[in-house]
Amino acid sequence: MSQVLSLAQPQPAVVPRHVAVVMDGNGRWARQRYMPRFFGHKAGVDALVRAVNLFADRGVEYLTVFAFSSENWKRPTEEVSGLMSLVLVAVSKYLGRMAKDGVRIRIVGDRDAVSDKLREAWEQAEDLTRDNRRITLAVAFNYGGRWDVVQACRQALAEGIAPDRFDEQYLSQHMALSFAPDPDLFIRTGGEMRMSNFLLWQAAYSELFFTDCLWPDFGASEIDAALAAYAARDRRFGGIRPPVVAEGG
Ligand code: IPE
Ligand code: IPE
Ligand code: MG
Repeated sequence: MSQVLSLAQPQPAVVPRHVAVVMDGNGRWARQRYMPRFFGHKAGVDALVRAVNLFADRGVEYLTVFAFSSENWKRPTEEVSGLMSLVLVAVSKYLGRMAKDGVRIRIVGDRDAVSDKLREAWEQAEDLTRDNRRITLAVAFNYGGRWDVVQACRQALAEGIAPDRFDEQYLSQHMALSFAPDPDLFIRTGGEMRMSNFLLWQAAYSELFFTDCLWPDFGASEIDAALAAYAARDRRFGGIRPPVVAEGG
């Protein structure tokens, strides 16, 4: 039914080049089904694999997803280790298919704190998909917006940049998402209306879209609703709307 509805929706005229998503609500999705939280995270991975193709089909060039935040280490050890092993399972289950689907995978975040096994899986995913161009999927893992600003400044300091040459452009070039334009659309599922330390620098002018839909349920009709909302926004970037010129005038 939702499939039919989504097909009936008009295609938005303006498609965002870069969409960022806080994939929230896996735990509540599992609880609604009287299942352990891990069940929700597993369904969340499946939802992500579906979403990448749906966004790509709609012309989105970059999709950046928040998979594990710098703050998620605060969760119980079993949940954290469950999430780490889920990544390994997800890479072995889906990497081949994503590579064939033309997805370029990039991992953004602090890799120092994760296991060697996980780091190797990330490297394998990046290497195998390096030349793909249909869509770039950036997975933010052990990522925090504040961490990103600090690591970029550290690189700048190590390069010995003179203070008067240090500007926004210089910093941007050292941020974790330097390979992508800033996100046009920032989506958060799961009903919370906060950024939770996601792309603090890059989302300065992103259009925000919040939905109560829990991440594992985020499919074609929700994606089309978010893209339609985006297409209806008036992005001014601090300027004003250009005057409408009357016909014949
Ligand atoms: C988001 O879902 C996934 C991660 C943070 C890894 P949650 O696990 O935060 O789900 P809720 O918010 O508890 O429902
Ligand atoms: C944000 O979700 C992080 C990810 C989706 C990976 P959280 O569930 O961790 O955020 P808070 O705790 O509600 O702010
Ligand atoms: Mg949450």
